[in-house]
Amino acid sequence: MNCILRGVRVIDPAAGMDAVGQDVWLSEGRIIAVYPSIDEGTVTVVDLTPAPGHPPCILAPGFIDLHAHLREPGGERAETVLSGARAAAAGGFTQVLAMANTEPPIDTPIRVAEARSRAAGAVVEVMTAAAVSRDLAGHVPVDVAGCAAAGAVAFTDDGRNAAPPELLSDVLRRAHDAGRPVLVHPEDERTIAERNRSGGPWALSLDRPAEAEATAVRSALEALAQAGRGHLHLQHLSTAASVDLVRRAREDGVAVTAEVTPHHLAMWSPAAQATDPPALLKVNPPLRTENDRIALIQALRDGVIDAVATDHAPHHVDHKCGDLASAAPGMTGLETALATCITLGGMSGDWIPVLLERLTLGPHRVLAPGADLRQPRLRVGESATCVLFDPAAPWTVGEGHTHSRSRNNPLWGSRLNGRVLLTIADGVVAHHDPALLPWPSTLMEAASG
Ligand code: DOR
Repeated sequence: MNCILRGVRVIDPAAGMDAVGQDVWLSEGRIIAVYPSIDEGTVTVVDLTPAPGHPPCILAPGFIDLHAHLREPGGERAETVLSGARAAAAGGFTQVLAMANTEPPIDTPIRVAEARSRAAGAVVEVMTAAAVSRDLAGHVPVDVAGCAAAGAVAFTDDGRNAAPPELLSDVLRRAHDAGRPVLVHPEDERTIAERNRSGGPWALSLDRPAEAEATAVRSALEALAQAGRGHLHLQHLSTAASVDLVRRAREDGVAVTAEVTPHHLAMWSPAAQATDPPALLKVNPPLRTENDRIALIQALRDGVIDAVATDHAPHHVDHKCGDLASAAPGMTGLETALATCITLGGMSGDWIPVLLERLTLGPHRVLAPGADLRQPRLRVGESATCVLFDPAAPWTVGEGHTHSRSRNNPLWGSRLNGRVLLTIADGVVAHHDPALLPWPSTLMEAASG
């Protein structure tokens, strides 16, 4: 790989850089120079100068996803670590945090170590989250120090919220001592169980009121106060009430961070009206009202919400095509996150630099203190970890090659804007769209070879 990308907008939130009309010289997986005009000499030029009236392609540090279900072990029909990593690369993500609700869950140091070795062959960096409680059941805390020593960068029972406040406080303290955050799925299990008297597993229950989220957010904040130390991160906020609670806690100096998913920002409108099967729209927490959606966008823009996280939740078709009550919750998101936020999620145009901050530095702030994660930056002269995307390129979800093993995305067949052209992870090309990046094949061979 030795080429100059011409006419690119370079956005590097950590460096405070936002410059249009740049030439970016890439060689052997490194960014050699970023400059308004580089004399190409014998170097191949890939001219990306936009047509008049069109926005330029953007080069940014690779995205970090705090929340992906890669289903291994136990759910390999839906996804594997390797297929999930390829989907991540296609979406511009170079680091992904894999959730612990696998079968069996990642709830012992040995299982963390096994997860670390599964991640070794992935095209992007797959990080491991350990559970908060054994079997995610909320009764017995995991060996926090042991799981952290084995390589877990965070703790979460995501998919469940069974841990009582005392157990959560205990794990918050121990995780803090190991330099790790605790990520909480804020949906109160008791409220949901009472509302769904017909029974059935909690995760499948359909009636999931907004109060269940507010109750769980309050309870997690109380557990943090009880703990006296620790970093609480709230996953997939979905309501205006939760945003208010987090905003107030932050004003009081509480160590709480939060994320929002692309689907809760977008509400999948206009697709939300009709999907076939209807269970494509089933997700925990559920899609909410327009008022909630606007509050989430506002909170993401003003920084009360730190990160966009996909909650990529692949499911085999067998688990999505039955009746709504027995269908699995969740939707894929890694390959569509960027375009969903730009097209439907209120983060287009002038908001793109903010979106990039929430996809890079924001998630890094959540994980970095103990995980020794490099700050996402475009470092000249070092192995590149970056994404090149066209914020206006239209595409149809599901058309052409997709990388996830699953297709449970309600936007399947929809037209979105914003396409990833190239993802480089630690100097290696992890994804390249040959249709959009007219990159001579000789360069690609050199790049992947
Ligand atoms: O909809 C969801 N699906 N929400 C979660 O929190 C878990 C996820 C899953 O694992 O499928």
